[in-house]
Amino acid sequence: MKDNLKSFFTEHWNYMAVSTACKLGLFDALDKQNLGAKELAENLNLKEKQLSILLKALNNNGFLNEENDTYSLNETSILLTENHPNSLKYACLNWSGEHLNAWQNLEYSIQTGASSFTNSYGENYFDYLNNHPDKLHQYQKAMYEYARDDYKELPNKIDLNSVTNVIDIGGGYGAAISSIKIVYPNLTCYLFDLEKVIDNCNLKDITTIKGNFFEEIPKVAEVLILSRILHDWDNEKAAIILKNCFDALPKNGTIYIIENCSDKITIDLSMLSLNMMALCESYERTSVEYIQMVTSAGFTFESDVKLNELQTILKFKK
Ligand SMILES: C[S@@+](CC[C@H](N)C(=O)[O-])C[C@H]1O[C@@H](n2cnc3c(N)ncnc32)[C@H](O)[C@@H]1O
Repeated sequence: MKDNLKSFFTEHWNYMAVSTACKLGLFDALDKQNLGAKELAENLNLKEKQLSILLKALNNNGFLNEENDTYSLNETSILLTENHPNSLKYACLNWSGEHLNAWQNLEYSIQTGASSFTNSYGENYFDYLNNHPDKLHQYQKAMYEYARDDYKELPNKIDLNSVTNVIDIGGGYGAAISSIKIVYPNLTCYLFDLEKVIDNCNLKDITTIKGNFFEEIPKVAEVLILSRILHDWDNEKAAIILKNCFDALPKNGTIYIIENCSDKITIDLSMLSLNMMALCESYERTSVEYIQMVTSAGFTFESDVKLNELQTILKFKK
């Protein structure tokens, strides 16, 4: 037990070694060819001795195969290459860097209720991303890699047969709205996000709109999707977004709130909540809390349905 405890303290070293390999482009370098430490060090401009230690660690923790001092990808590490259709490279990178720094000062969030990220970086997480285009792109790619899988079933869980247009608010690079467009090709689909996010996204058949949901949401659709947005914000900020959603919808319009509702699943969300606290000054709420928040903005609750093992879709009418 005591020995387990000692190794538990350094469990994050495994993730950090993998994340470092991603950052150095190591898995990408092995995508098309198997290489030894010397060739890899030359290709990536790294120190051979230090790299050989990283390679050994990655072989030991199951991320690389090794034969005669030559390294190759396996079925796990191939997913950490840039061009794999199911790549998780940016999802892997997402949890190091600033995210890890925010966790390092988690005690600040527990002591004050405020974001440890904002305390360290002097601006909130989304403002920081907006001011660092490379970080913003990396974050959006990471979100897309999760969303691509999470929203596969979305069009089968909501009925959009009787509507003509739908808008995804804060939809990032458009994974959710794209999956809807495939199943409902005649629907007019809009994606709304911050200017710099929209500038980087490349979508077919979806109309993109730049803006700020704290200022105004465009009045273009009778159905509005707000997925993994409210959990980023405290109650006061969430209320502003919901008011703007209410103003954007016609009478009888629909809003789908998609969130990790802690009371609707058996998975414990405490770790995700700690992450939200450190980053964003919020935490994963229950469906009861969301319903209270959304009905306070003037909407009427209609129904809920599970989207996947984490997320629940809550449907409301104006
Ligand atoms: C946690 S991500 C969710 C992305 C996507 N909806 C999903 O479920 O994967 C939050 C999104 O809100 C967007 N966002 C943050 N602040 C915003 C603002 N003030 N106005 C519009 N979009 C904003 C971010 O750019 C990001 O795409």
